[in-house]
Amino acid sequence: MASPAAEAVLRYHRRTKHRLDRYARSPGYLDWDNQPDPFRRYDGCERYALPLAAEDPPGGPLDLYEGARAARALDRAAVGLFLELSLGLSAWKSAGGARWALRIHPSSGNLHPTEGYLVLPPLDGLPAGLYHYQPFWHALELRAEAGEPFTGLLAPGSRPASFLFGLTSIFWREAWKYGERAFRYCLLDAGHALAAARFAAALLGWRLSLLTTLADDQTAAVLGIDRTAFAENEEEHPELLAWVATDPSAPPPATLPAAALAAAGRLQLAGVPNRLSAQPLAWPEISRAAAACRKPETPPPAPVPQAARPWLPGPESPLSAARILRRRRSGIAFDPRRSLERERFLVLLDRTLPRPGKAPFDALAEPAAVDLLLFVHRVAGLPPGLYLLVRAEAHEGPLRRAMAARFRWEPVLPGFPLFLLEEGDFRGLARLVSCHQEIAGDGAFSLGMIARFEEGVRREPFRYRRLFRECGMIGQVLYLEAEAHGFRGTGIGCFYDDEVHEAAGLEGLSFQSLYHFTVGAPVEDPRITTLPPYGHLAAR
Ligand SMILES: Cc1cc2nc3c(=O)[nH]c(=O)nc-3n(C[C@H](O)[C@H](O)[C@H](O)COP(=O)(O)O)c2cc1C
Repeated sequence: MASPAAEAVLRYHRRTKHRLDRYARSPGYLDWDNQPDPFRRYDGCERYALPLAAEDPPGGPLDLYEGARAARALDRAAVGLFLELSLGLSAWKSAGGARWALRIHPSSGNLHPTEGYLVLPPLDGLPAGLYHYQPFWHALELRAEAGEPFTGLLAPGSRPASFLFGLTSIFWREAWKYGERAFRYCLLDAGHALAAARFAAALLGWRLSLLTTLADDQTAAVLGIDRTAFAENEEEHPELLAWVATDPSAPPPATLPAAALAAAGRLQLAGVPNRLSAQPLAWPEISRAAAACRKPETPPPAPVPQAARPWLPGPESPLSAARILRRRRSGIAFDPRRSLERERFLVLLDRTLPRPGKAPFDALAEPAAVDLLLFVHRVAGLPPGLYLLVRAEAHEGPLRRAMAARFRWEPVLPGFPLFLLEEGDFRGLARLVSCHQEIAGDGAFSLGMIARFEEGVRREPFRYRRLFRECGMIGQVLYLEAEAHGFRGTGIGCFYDDEVHEAAGLEGLSFQSLYHFTVGAPVEDPRITTLPPYGHLAAR
């Protein structure tokens, strides 16, 4: 018997599936006058400008995963760089009189439901305290100054210097456009943002680990969002709290000391959150699902048994790691005449595999739960067809049993967990299951992220969020790898859930596709102009 919370989560999941004959419930039109502001501000706070990077950290693409050899000292400029390379702006775009900002991390519909927070020790010119990051101004808003015991564990004199990094979601920002399915997109976006932060930390030589034992209520208390007067339906919801340390070998604390948590809950908060919309609407199904998968306090996770796996060698990217982070964009159209080389394709998939102590998946401290079902269209040296990348070793047996019996399970490369299931032309099917989006069929390949689903969600409903988070992180790796190899990625949140399962022969809820992605050779739209990310701060 599943708990009522698990039933509520599964109900939400079923009801927000897109079907060929009926999309998940949404407004069905865009109420532009009511569009939520993508930038959260706390008016009345002390605002601390962060310097923009004069120079990017050195390092090639592999350093994103391995981490820089020398760690940057923790100071205001380093915090600025960490945020600029994770949650900062990447460009402004303009077309037809409209202008919009893009960020280092992608977001479904560019609506950006994710907000970032830091708890910092005293740094040069920054008092110790709780801050909200404002990417438009590249500035920190001081919500509360804090002393011992809240920030005691973060004192720069202690070894290693460390701070806390938190993410929240504003469901309304996504629901404005996507309705009930929006909760899923918020979770995916948070996964992208977490991976973006993990990569930025790696380039600075830092570690970033989730504080996995914390209850959501504790995270909300630390971030101050449980006692902030948000407008109704514009509330922020806790996603995660992570510990960032300048010593990559330092073991993360199992949790935060009780005294620190208690002190955090008593902090007096400054600042009034800005209104995001004239009329933010309620989406009760989202509220019910979010309540049902709120995380309680949990014991420290068991160590993740993972064999070390060497990096698959392949063609080097000429781009620096920081350049790749800054250039990441979603492809809007792909050139169907261009193929991706086999070696690049394999390297790109290799980087999505979890490895002990390697970014970004080391941040999770939990075994992988998501595998990739690939529709390969144009990879030179590989027959087009349906493939499976087994990211979670333990899934191979259950997937062999659960998927269509006709699949061949032919290894592509000895020792590499990629299998050819079925040869064929899957361009039409890939397009169809991705809500008829051309990019899913015009690229080199597209894929569905298949999570081991029902069993875990029934046992611990909050795992629903963890599965989407992992999918978002995989998406971030795919975006960066596509960019590194001169191609481009696009996250695909719109897909017909059960048509994907049918293509794989999957029945029931034991495995579910939670996110799609496509990679191709980009075709730029000449009508869109690109402007630098922080030109508007020139006069600051
Ligand atoms: C969770 C998620 C779902 C997305 N779904 C789609 C999609 O179905 N179709 C599409 O063309 N783009 C999709 N995108 C891409 C976003 O539209 C894109 O990230 C956003 O416009 C910002 O642009 P940028 O990625 O170039 O910064 C998705 C992105 C994310 C993160």
